Amino acid sequence: MIQYDEAHHIFKLDTPNTSYIFGLTDESYPGQIYYGKKIEDTDLGYLLREDERPQPPSVLRREKAGYFDFYPMEYPSAGIGDARESCIGIHTMDGQEGLELRYRSHQIYAGKKPLEGLPATWDAEPAGTSETDPDSSDKTTDKEVQAADCSCSTLEVTLEDEVTGIWVILSYTAFEDTDAITRSVRVENKGERSIYLTKVLSACLHVEQENLEVLTLPGSWSRERQIQRQKLGYGSIVTESIRGISSHQDHPFMALVTENCTQTTGDVYAVNFVYSGNFIAKAMRDQFDQTRMVMGIHPDRFCWKLESGESFQAPEAVLVYSDEGLGKMTRAFHSLYRNHLIRGYWKDRRRPVLINNWEATYFDFDTEKLLAIAREAAERGIEMLVVDDGWFGYRSNDDSSLGDWQVNEKKLPGGFTYLAQEVNKLGMKLGIWLEPEMVSEDSNLYRAHPDWALQMNGREPGQARAQYVLDLSRPEVAEYVYGMIRDVLSSANIEYVKWDMNRLLSDVGNLTLPSDRQGEIMHRYMLAVYSLQDRLTKDFPQLLLENCCSGGGRFDPGMLYYSPQIWCSDDTDAIERLSIQEGTQLLYPLSCIGAHVSICPNHGTGRVTPFETRGVVALSGTFGYELDITRLSDEEKDQIPGQVAHYKQYSHLIRNGEYYRIASWRENHLCDCFMIVSKNRAEALCTYVQVLSQINCKSLRIRLQGLDPDAFYSVTEVTLAAGSENEAAGKRYQGAALMYAGILMPRVMGDFKARLLYIKRI
Ligand code: DGJ
Repeated sequence: MIQYDEAHHIFKLDTPNTSYIFGLTDESYPGQIYYGKKIEDTDLGYLLREDERPQPPSVLRREKAGYFDFYPMEYPSAGIGDARESCIGIHTMDGQEGLELRYRSHQIYAGKKPLEGLPATWDAEPAGTSETDPDSSDKTTDKEVQAADCSCSTLEVTLEDEVTGIWVILSYTAFEDTDAITRSVRVENKGERSIYLTKVLSACLHVEQENLEVLTLPGSWSRERQIQRQKLGYGSIVTESIRGISSHQDHPFMALVTENCTQTTGDVYAVNFVYSGNFIAKAMRDQFDQTRMVMGIHPDRFCWKLESGESFQAPEAVLVYSDEGLGKMTRAFHSLYRNHLIRGYWKDRRRPVLINNWEATYFDFDTEKLLAIAREAAERGIEMLVVDDGWFGYRSNDDSSLGDWQVNEKKLPGGFTYLAQEVNKLGMKLGIWLEPEMVSEDSNLYRAHPDWALQMNGREPGQARAQYVLDLSRPEVAEYVYGMIRDVLSSANIEYVKWDMNRLLSDVGNLTLPSDRQGEIMHRYMLAVYSLQDRLTKDFPQLLLENCCSGGGRFDPGMLYYSPQIWCSDDTDAIERLSIQEGTQLLYPLSCIGAHVSICPNHGTGRVTPFETRGVVALSGTFGYELDITRLSDEEKDQIPGQVAHYKQYSHLIRNGEYYRIASWRENHLCDCFMIVSKNRAEALCTYVQVLSQINCKSLRIRLQGLDPDAFYSVTEVTLAAGSENEAAGKRYQGAALMYAGILMPRVMGDFKARLLYIKRI
């Protein structure tokens, strides 16, 4: 619900348990007042401190510039006195930079409008993208609130700078079924002259609380989204990407958390960005112990020319406040993304269990090899074969052929038409890998159009993984790329695409745009990627799209809008995956996290883990295999049908359940444990991995979460291999006992041992 208290000039946005409040001063400057637990009253304008005397005794009246350097401006601008991080910057044709934004008007309406050309959360799913799941057995007891039943309301506040004629429209949506508020910004040039927009961030939050820490998700290739907490002293903490992708190294997420914050206690103020390109998130504690946190498109390499009458839409940011620690924050993000971001045919459907040939064969495969894998996979219940990198041009390593998307008939005679027929005969679907944004130097496409690669005038562009980035900001290049994708997908019964992207953007120049528009390329590139994926999902509505970026380099809410799942990391080692998946699960629902069982010794770490453990760890994602099944031992092969069957059996929980983190191997260096609990608290899955074995230790007491304290439950040990579930005979546990007193996890011999518990109300 959104209210405007006209008497006090206060806006109040409510979600089920939170309120976001801002107001206007007498001079119409919008100032942020509060974000936190729900408050009924709106008369909170006193918190803007309009009457407080300025500090120097000689100055009796309030002076604008001095006041701005303290005032919690709702959308701070540069150049007029506020010396903290601003959200918007311009450069006029006179070379001036200031903006003084005052309230002009507002409107409040039910629902939410899409953001043109950009991914964004929605109220009613955008037309043509969804149907309900016909497979009623998958719905079971844990039916999510359907989007159609939900609602949200939107506030648009227009601010104006009288001197330049720049209008800034701040949009806020408050969701009624989730404790999340989204913000976005549109800038309109109502003036007579062009201006350059040099910075336009999407959200700003002020928190007046001491002892804050900053939580971010830094990482690297194969080490994505590692949870990091740092104390916030005076000054700033920044997380950012200027790589043209949201990146492995940083993540478009930042949270301010109180020192006492745990999974279940403390305050959390979180912001996540619905964008896949350059971003900056910055938290700074000022001289008066106020903390300002901002998030938006990175101003480096950004300069957008706005002609008179034109507008610029900045992407959306999602805000979540939790008064009960990180766990509640996580559940709010999961709920928002499941119900108001992910779209399309596969949104609520169980995804097919796939087998991908990348770690099985790398580039060394042919139809025979693939069909041998498919045959053995089909026999064991695997539902889809995915042909990864290397099926096109003459690619036999990563040096060539990107851009030449014709099937290499030497490897695959009869192309995908034949392969799909054979795979379909086995009762399986066929999926393929594509990397449409790239071109190899050694390719017909590059030889024909060397100018299509991103490059700067007179400077040879640099390669990474022996490839260049196609300049998708040029419409003719994007059009060619789309035609190529459409042709491949129309050539056979291809039901899944893994859309990969394997390098950062460098040499960001464009040979066709004028010099004063070169600063637009990074964002234009992102808009072109979104537009391609939008067309793809509309033209092939039942296609299952999985985004990927050398693993999880573009695992962000922007990509989730187009693909319901994203490959989480190229690190498939079950133990390394624990902390990568923990960081990913902090924000993103398990249903979208690509996770596979791979071969041991693991190709990245050399570690050997039990096949059962690899299955349990992959089960908390989209679940699939990435190995040469024909080379597994009989003992391992025999475990696959049970793993697949259990994945199907619990998939409703994995897709819809509420997530509770109980122990973190990253923190305790001993074990990992989390639960997924159905919304009605009738059933739950508890995943436990004893990472390291210790001698002479008692069993571990683990306190479960999320259950009904008054209900009674049975606890069943699930062994993924078929036919072995042992319910502790007749033992009933009260929910309160399981949660407050806990259960005992025996220490077992050997490292890397996983246990899966199924907990059911009786
Ligand atoms: C990077 C991906 O993350 C891998 O899974 C694989 O598809 C390779 N690219 C293929 O080049």
